[in-house]
Amino acid sequence: MGETMYTAVVIGCGRIGSLYDTGQPSDPLTHAGAYAAHDRVKLIAGVDPDEGRRKDFAARWGVPAYAALEEMLSQFSPDLWSICTEASSHFGLVKKAINAGARGIWCEKPLASSLEEAVGIQTACAQARVPLLINHSRRFDKCHQDLARRLRAGEWGHVERVVIHYVRGISNYGSHAFDLLRFLLTDDIDWISAWDDLRELVPDPSLTVRGRTCQGVFFSLLPINRSLYDCLEVDVWASCGRLTVTHLGKGIRQYRVGPSPYWDEPTELLEAPGQFLPGMQGLALQALSNLIAHMETGAPLLSSCQDGVAAVAAVSAARCSTERHGEPVEIRKLLSEIGAAV
Ligand SMILES: NC(=O)c1ccc[n+]([C@@H]2O[C@H](COP(=O)([O-])OP(=O)(O)OC[C@H]3O[C@@H](n4cnc5c(N)ncnc54)[C@H](O)[C@@H]3O)[C@@H](O)[C@H]2O)c1
Repeated sequence: MGETMYTAVVIGCGRIGSLYDTGQPSDPLTHAGAYAAHDRVKLIAGVDPDEGRRKDFAARWGVPAYAALEEMLSQFSPDLWSICTEASSHFGLVKKAINAGARGIWCEKPLASSLEEAVGIQTACAQARVPLLINHSRRFDKCHQDLARRLRAGEWGHVERVVIHYVRGISNYGSHAFDLLRFLLTDDIDWISAWDDLRELVPDPSLTVRGRTCQGVFFSLLPINRSLYDCLEVDVWASCGRLTVTHLGKGIRQYRVGPSPYWDEPTELLEAPGQFLPGMQGLALQALSNLIAHMETGAPLLSSCQDGVAAVAAVSAARCSTERHGEPVEIRKLLSEIGAAV
């Protein structure tokens, strides 16, 4: 224990699998980059049906890349599997990883493209006792962890409302947003209402969402036109202040209640000196180290398969409510309808 070397494979040699990293970065962003940088892991292969991606992967990381999984499995039996493909392929790939003797799976979000498949992944991993870490990346960031801890400790009083502006689809950035809500509030989502206001006419539209957590905090997800810019910005309104998370998680600002310097009002929210490090550092290495620590010592996964199912359940509820013109959809009911444990 603590000395074991692990072999690793990356399934899907695209952006998050490999391409976001150039050179040998000290703070890798990708799965391949994290494996290459970790002193107890040996990256042994990539798999991707796209020839250009395979060539790039092999040149970038100095290991072979295969067109088909079976080809890779005829040569190797990897311990760690990164699944960096689109969500619709995750269930099938997780089952193949389990059958091929994977010891740990690091899977991209969203966990699956349907709630049934997400629960299927959770069941398959539990039965095979193979841990799956879902890459809800903000959970691996020290700054977000600090923020969640301080919110939990009541430093800003009780949370009144959370508003998240986002782009790129309810399943894509929306799944990050739902997970972030659960993570920051240490709470589950109770019900969701949603509408397709933007009418983007794409497979994964950015829906307008309103909902409430089990502890009674109201929240909204408000979509922005995806052609304008990238954003996932969080606004936490609490009884003693306000927190904003900007720059896709890199910037955190806080406001405290104080006497108004401008108006004849008793109090307002005033920006308070920042006490936060820049966010979103060291995410991929933290994720990988957490998976290995869990495999070796049983340390809790910072982003578990259950967190993956919960985010997919929220996305499914938003889609379902949109079809019913905004009728509230209860998450527990949705899960029990498909026979999942609630
Ligand atoms: N956690 C994060 O912050 C983050 C960031 C980016 C992407 N993602 C997620 O990662 C996933 C992939 O996104 P991306 O932007 O890297 O996509 P991408 O299109 O750049 O890469 C996906 C790759 O998978 C390959 N592929 C498809 N089916 C395959 C299969 N069966 N076996 C092997 N390879 C296969 C494709 O050829 C492609 O090269 C998505 O689910 C996305 O939501 C997460």
